[in-house]
Amino acid sequence: STSTSTRILGATFPTDAATNLSASVLERIPRRLHKVPNHPIAIIKERIEDYFVKTNQNYKIVDSLSPAVSTTQNFDQLLFDKDHSSRSPSDTYYVNKDTVLRTHTSAHQSEVLAGKQSNVGYLLTADVYRRDEIDLSHYPVFHQMEGIRIFDRKALLSESSADTFAPLPKGAKITDPTGLSNPETNPLQVAHAQKDSELVALHLKRALEGLVWHLFGSDKNLEIRWIEAYFPFTSPSWEMEVMYQGKWLELLGCGVIQQKILDDSGNPDKIGWAFGLGLERIAMVMFGIPDIRLFWSQDSRFLSQFENHTTKQITFQPYSKYPACYKDVSFWCPDGFHDNDMFEVVRDMAGDLAEDVALIDTFKNPKTGRTSKCFRINYRSMDRTLSNEDVDIIQDKVREEVARRCGVELRG
Ligand code: PHE
Repeated sequence: STSTSTRILGATFPTDAATNLSASVLERIPRRLHKVPNHPIAIIKERIEDYFVKTNQNYKIVDSLSPAVSTTQNFDQLLFDKDHSSRSPSDTYYVNKDTVLRTHTSAHQSEVLAGKQSNVGYLLTADVYRRDEIDLSHYPVFHQMEGIRIFDRKALLSESSADTFAPLPKGAKITDPTGLSNPETNPLQVAHAQKDSELVALHLKRALEGLVWHLFGSDKNLEIRWIEAYFPFTSPSWEMEVMYQGKWLELLGCGVIQQKILDDSGNPDKIGWAFGLGLERIAMVMFGIPDIRLFWSQDSRFLSQFENHTTKQITFQPYSKYPACYKDVSFWCPDGFHDNDMFEVVRDMAGDLAEDVALIDTFKNPKTGRTSKCFRINYRSMDRTLSNEDVDIIQDKVREEVARRCGVELRG
C-alpha cells in the first residue's frame, strides 16, 4: 500500500517526492528524552535553566514544541541562502517539500519572538534531527538548548547591567583573541551602533562564561577559549571551547541576533543575543557516557545510575561491553549516491545494534568511471552478546535494502 501522509505527534502531514523520513527516526519522536525525569539529558537541561534563572528570573522555559517545522522556519526566517548546503536532502529529513524535522532549535526563533510576551528571553530545549554518519558520538536524533536574551534598545545599559552573574573564580583562565567584532571576519551589523552591539556581546560572553563554571567548575584546570564563527542568523558570532578533563570540547555557537529577525518578528525596538548547544555532548563528558546510543536505552542499568544526581557527582559505570562483530559490504555507487543514504539503511535494518559504520575503501574504475565503496559495519549490542547468525541475518537485510533503496550494485 502507498501511504500519502504521515502522522507526527498527532498531526497529519501529506508526503510527496521530497519525503525521506525513516522508520527508525519516526519512532524516536515521542521519546522526548529532555522531559524524562532523571534522564541525563534532562539533568543537563535543568542545570542550565537553574543557572540562567539565577541571573534573571524572567526567562521563559519552552520544551514541548513539535519537531515538524516549515522550511521557512528552519531556514528562510533565519536568513539561510536559498542554496545553503544544510537544505540538502542528504543532510536533512524532509516530511514533505515544505516541512522538515527541525535541524536545530534556532528554527523556533521567529515564532517564539513573535508571541507577545513579557519575558526577557527564553530557554528552548528540543530534539533535533540530522542525517549523519554512524559512530559513538553521532546519532540522527540529538538534543539542543537555545537561549535568547533580548533588551529594550533604549534601556540597553540599565537592563543588561541589572542581571546578576555569579563572580568567576579568581584566576579563571579565559582566552579571547576575538574581541567584540572584526570588520573583515566578524562584522557588526549596519543596523547596530558599535556601543550597543558591544554591550550585548559583553553580556553574552559573561553569561556563557558563568554557565561554564556553573556546569564544569569542579575541574580545577578548567579553561575557556573564544573563537570567531559564522552563522547566517547572528553577527558577530562565536564558538566557545572548554578545556575539561584535559581535552578541548566545542561547547556552543552564539552571537548577536540579526536585527532583521527581530524586526520581522515584531520586535524592532529590541536587540539581543542567542546561543545554541548540544546536550548529548555535555552529558557524555560530564557523566563519562562512552556511547551516544546509551541515551536511548530503556535498561535500568543505565537509567538508575542518574537517580541521585542532585546529591552526588555521577560517573557512569559501564555495566559491560559485549563483543563486537564486523561485517563489510561493498558495491558500485549510482550517480547521486550519498554515504548518508547507506548509514540510514543501516540504522533502519540494525537499529541500535550498529555501533559504527566506516568507509574503509573507495575505488574508481578508470575505464568505466564508476566508483565502488566498501563500508565496514561494527555490530554490537549494549545489553547482550550477538551470535554470528544474528548478525548475518541483519547483514543480509542491509545488503538487500541498500541495493533496493539506493540502487547500488552489490559486489562479492
Ligand atoms: N543553531 C546553531 C547550530 O545548530 C547554533 C547557534 C544557535 C548559533 C544560536 C548561534 C546562535 O549549530
